[in-house]
Amino acid sequence: METGSAHWPYRARIAHRGAGLLAPENTLAALRLGASLGYRMFEFDARLAGDGTVVLLHDDTLERTTDGRGRVAACSLGDLARLDAGSWHGAAYAGEGVPTFARVARWLLANGLQANVEIKPCPGRERETGAAVALEARCLWPRGQTAPLLSSFSAQALEGARAAAPELPRALLVESLPPDWRQRCASLGCVALVAWHEALDEAAIGRAHATGLRVLAYTVDAPARVRELDSWGIDGLITDAVDRIAPD
Ligand code: G3P
Ligand code: MG
Repeated sequence: METGSAHWPYRARIAHRGAGLLAPENTLAALRLGASLGYRMFEFDARLAGDGTVVLLHDDTLERTTDGRGRVAACSLGDLARLDAGSWHGAAYAGEGVPTFARVARWLLANGLQANVEIKPCPGRERETGAAVALEARCLWPRGQTAPLLSSFSAQALEGARAAAPELPRALLVESLPPDWRQRCASLGCVALVAWHEALDEAAIGRAHATGLRVLAYTVDAPARVRELDSWGIDGLITDAVDRIAPD
């Protein structure tokens, strides 16, 4: 996919952290729940374990979403495989594991679902993480299937992804709109901007579209705000409210 391409293959409603509010974030249980509610595209967070395996975890450390302790970057896949990533959310999810990117990709592909892979590098491993996620995505997604959209707050991670697999579509994530956001997207070869929804207005979306960029908003949970962003021509919405925002 090229910057400015008119073709946009992605769904307009995207479940955040794999539908990770009603079920433990970034787990297969969450993805399954989102799919059961009709969601066809999932945002999730991908990072490197210490042995180079790409896994789904949001934080640099294990405490918030698993029963482990310490830094993800200090763990091997074997260490992570022993963790419970579900009990913190509720007893119904006890024993839910930390999934690898490969496992999740196979599940998504088997079910005809789309992905927005947020590259979450730990400090100092930005470029390496972007490259690892992109290379693995290239291997996992067969030609002819809609490739995952790779996004990151880290320009270095996006540069790493671009160097490793330039054909995969990339998006720059921002919490607020820097004055040079269009130049940043262009210099990283991004096809889309993914912005905190309160940073967006109709004019910004129009400016992005005028330069051939698509615009996604996160995390949008209020139906009235969904309608407003839709009326401004937003291309995609990432939501936690998978039980209240209808999938497309
Ligand atoms: O990719 C959009 C959103 O997930 C970014 O924020 O912290 O939920 O990963 P965070
Ligand atoms: Mg994320």
